[in-house]
Amino acid sequence: MPSAVVVRRGHFNAAHRLHNPDRSDEWNRNAFGPCNNPNFHGHNYEVEICVEGDIDPETGYVVDVAILKALFDQYIHSVLDHRNLNLDVEWFANRLPSAENIAVFIWEQLAPRIPAGRLQKIRLWETPRNYVEDSG
Ligand code: NI
Repeated sequence: MPSAVVVRRGHFNAAHRLHNPDRSDEWNRNAFGPCNNPNFHGHNYEVEICVEGDIDPETGYVVDVAILKALFDQYIHSVLDHRNLNLDVEWFANRLPSAENIAVFIWEQLAPRIPAGRLQKIRLWETPRNYVEDSG
């Protein structure tokens, strides 16, 4: 059966600060540079949700992108958009809100909910020049 990868893009804005409370202020400044600034800063995050699977001969789809949009809106956008990730999102209470960990969060929320095919990859752009990928 022919297969394909379907990619749905999503977007959210959020603030964060990278700071490891187990380490000294100097260590944090060296490790994180301006991302350690005390009063937080924001990013315009772009998400690519990549779903791989067989093409259903009845629909021609791997998965309906309207479902991917709805899952993104309910489980990612509504939780992360216009939030301070450090202060507002419970999942990050004891995790650094790095792009890597945000991608893991998105993977964990979406992977079990994809109704057809399987989640192949989350690609998260933190800036137009930097992205991370998580594949579970
Ligand atoms: Ni940052």
